[in-house]
Amino acid sequence: MNILLLGSGGREHALAWKLSQSKQCTQLFIAPGNAGTGLHGTNVNISITDFKALKSFVLEKNITLVIVGPEEPLVKGITDNFKSDEQLRHVVVIGPSQYGAQLEGSKAFAKKFMMRHNIPTAAYREFDETNYSEGISYLQQHALPIVLKADGLAAGKGVLICQSHVEAIAEYELMLQHSKFGEASKKVVVEAFLDGIELSVFVLTDGKDYVLLPEAKDYKRIGVGDTGLNTGGMGAVSPVPFADAAFMKKVEEQVIKPTVKGLEIEEIDYKGFVFFGLIKVGAEPFVIEYNCRMGDPETEVVMPRLKTDLVDLFMATANGKLKEQKISPDSRFACTVMAVSGGYPGSYEKGFVINGLNNPVPADSLVFHAGTGTNNGDVVTSGGRVLTVTSYGNSISAAVTKSKEVLKQISFDGMYYRQDIGYEFQ
Ligand code: AMP
Ligand code: GLY
Repeated sequence: MNILLLGSGGREHALAWKLSQSKQCTQLFIAPGNAGTGLHGTNVNISITDFKALKSFVLEKNITLVIVGPEEPLVKGITDNFKSDEQLRHVVVIGPSQYGAQLEGSKAFAKKFMMRHNIPTAAYREFDETNYSEGISYLQQHALPIVLKADGLAAGKGVLICQSHVEAIAEYELMLQHSKFGEASKKVVVEAFLDGIELSVFVLTDGKDYVLLPEAKDYKRIGVGDTGLNTGGMGAVSPVPFADAAFMKKVEEQVIKPTVKGLEIEEIDYKGFVFFGLIKVGAEPFVIEYNCRMGDPETEVVMPRLKTDLVDLFMATANGKLKEQKISPDSRFACTVMAVSGGYPGSYEKGFVINGLNNPVPADSLVFHAGTGTNNGDVVTSGGRVLTVTSYGNSISAAVTKSKEVLKQISFDGMYYRQDIGYEFQ
């Protein structure tokens, strides 16, 4: 079958790499893709939110499976758009309906969903202009630190952890009265701070059944030892040593099953990934957030550990046959180390030539492109996160060491990567 994958990051390169290995994949197209996805299929220059142009392309190329990488088209309703179009109704779209995508697109929606289904999460209240002053009193008596979340999508910047009441009230005012995050902060969720260790858990679901994918832990801060500014993600490891069988059983029983049951009970049209952003507090899992897509850079370690054919999994999702699918992860560790542009996550320059990409890579390492493009035959930088190297190993440190060895062969002006991915497990 002909397949279209939407997106242009490291996640999409890892998905393209995996999809192209399927016997069922005839032609793979990636819109818009990057220089790496172009190694596994054909990049097409269409915006992921231009549903009209995507429709023409899908019809022209006889595409029957569309996989939506990032959240934006989902939150904007691409799945419903295809479903409601007679010419596109036969196309399988992997990604939830617009209503279901609110699990990521609205923090207040997600919190209410968790409350209805008794899913462990931090205590919270939501505020907007109608109960603004009540929110101030709530903040004044709230234990520190206080977590403030813009309700809507805010490019990963909408969560603030405030260490004082003065700071929390000032940020609350900026969000609600001065549109700090535009439309996204017209509503604010105020929640209790949970002290623990985070991990990312993923399922593929049809809204009734699910398969559990390998879990991962990502490293969001720019600096060594998890210091400095937040980024899109500087590296990831899988499996996660503290997510042992007993803990994962709690995750399934207390978080995953009630979530999928909730989708079923509420008749939410959801055929796609659920990404559970979890925190382990003591021995207990709590949900920090839901996402309606895979994580990045988690996908770059999850896909390499997934031995099952990904197209088979997607077709089983579409046909209500997920129960018949078995996931047997590669027993090795997979770790990825992300190389970013100098200055990222602040301002940075693009367009630098990336050297060393033609050097041979060891059999147990993979280079996934993120912000890359081509210019006069050269591969050049085109984003903050540029490329990531995933390696397999029998320990986290062995895998990370291999990735760093590969990164030593690659260079571009200003290149930076964290030396300490997986540090707490070594
Ligand atoms: P999010 O944008 O929802 O992924 O949140 C960004 C980050 O904020 C998370 O990865 C956590 O590190 C942190 N965070 C969010 N909510 C909480 C919470 N209730 N307690 C502690 N940390 C939190
Ligand atoms: N790595 C976190 C995310 O994809 O949101």
